[in-house]
Amino acid sequence: MAAIKPDVLKQHAQKAATFSHSPFSKYPVGAALLTEDGTIFEGCNIESSSYGLTVCAERNAIAAAVVKGHTKFKALAVYSVNGATPCGACRQVIWDICGNIPIYIFSENNYSKMYFSGDLLPAPFDNTKLEKENSE
Ligand code: THU
Repeated sequence: MAAIKPDVLKQHAQKAATFSHSPFSKYPVGAALLTEDGTIFEGCNIESSSYGLTVCAERNAIAAAVVKGHTKFKALAVYSVNGATPCGACRQVIWDICGNIPIYIFSENNYSKMYFSGDLLPAPFDNTKLEKENSE
């Protein structure tokens, strides 16, 4: 079981933000996702000229880990200039794929805060609702 080192996750998220493709918002974001075995996957936001196709840093980090076969996650870090918290779409995907994990928010001026993913998505819709015994 990997130990969570928020400072290390911050370094990864900050580095990932430098690769952001965000010519429209000019708002780079980086994310670092720690797997149960201690591997760290990075993601940055990638914007599209068709704005709605933009994918956030958090979901890109999750995709990078999932495609390598990872299914258990310990923590997520997000870095931006002023401490962005995950958007609504990301909150749903983080909950679905990572469950209740700590999310460390970092910014340029060393602000940091931690939220649990479960607290960021109260009364979630998730796979438990899709099980037959829960249908009305
Ligand atoms: N963005 C992220 O990548 N993660 C967040 O937590 C907040 C928003 C991106 C989406 C878009 O490329 C830019 O930041 C401005 O919304």
